[in-house]
Amino acid sequence: MTPLADTHVHLLAGLDDGPPTADEALAMCRAMAAEGVRHATALAHQNAGYPANTAARLRAAAAHLAGELAAHNVPLTVYPTGEVMLSPTTFEDWRSGALLSVGGHDQWLLVEMPHALFLDVLPLVDALRPHGVRLVIAHAERYPELLHDPARTERWIAAGCLIQVTASALADPWDHGMERALRDWVAGGFVHVLGSDGHGTAFRPPELAPGFERLVKWAGRPAAERIASLWGVSVLQGLPVQVPPPKPPPRSWFTRLFGG
Ligand SMILES: [Fe+2]
Repeated sequence: MTPLADTHVHLLAGLDDGPPTADEALAMCRAMAAEGVRHATALAHQNAGYPANTAARLRAAAAHLAGELAAHNVPLTVYPTGEVMLSPTTFEDWRSGALLSVGGHDQWLLVEMPHALFLDVLPLVDALRPHGVRLVIAHAERYPELLHDPARTERWIAAGCLIQVTASALADPWDHGMERALRDWVAGGFVHVLGSDGHGTAFRPPELAPGFERLVKWAGRPAAERIASLWGVSVLQGLPVQVPPPKPPPRSWFTRLFGG
């Protein structure tokens, strides 16, 4: 079985809109392990809505969860991580130590857009580059400015960003346009890591395997294993990842622009 890596799952009990209790976090972890996930973020939001979520607080909560997993023999390794909402002060916040990179390795920063806004990340990418830090764009399928603009997405990837897609969006796209765009993304090599964006056992459960199976169907098993396992584990462990430049499928973009 492929050891899957969930690069976006909220597992820190009571710290954000993820699992409210330690029991629910543990239940999520058991479910993840049962479907083959072996590595996962222990993640919580870091934004103005959760001012108490300091890097130290997230690390301590993740260490506690790791202890619980060991005590209950759940075969899941967790990596303390902040889901950082972009703001004008993101770079300064990172330099001050306020933000927690993926796994705390200072190699990858998991970032999401502010509510109802879309920002160009390239200035931040340039500022972080001398420090050896790169961005993972969280749930990138949510942003039409990326999903429907392959040229922009190519520039971001060329600048060093990795594109994270939500497994449920692959497995169950909410309309045909979304499905076609995601299929093009996967076929063209625009998708690098997978996340469940799990928040609880019932609402937004941490399901990764259906998304992995969809990747297998759309891109073949070797590509699916790179995305859902190899590259994901590398990011969680703070290792460098070099991805090939994407290749937009020209016929599909033409079709999207001109119909048919
Ligand atoms: Fe999230």
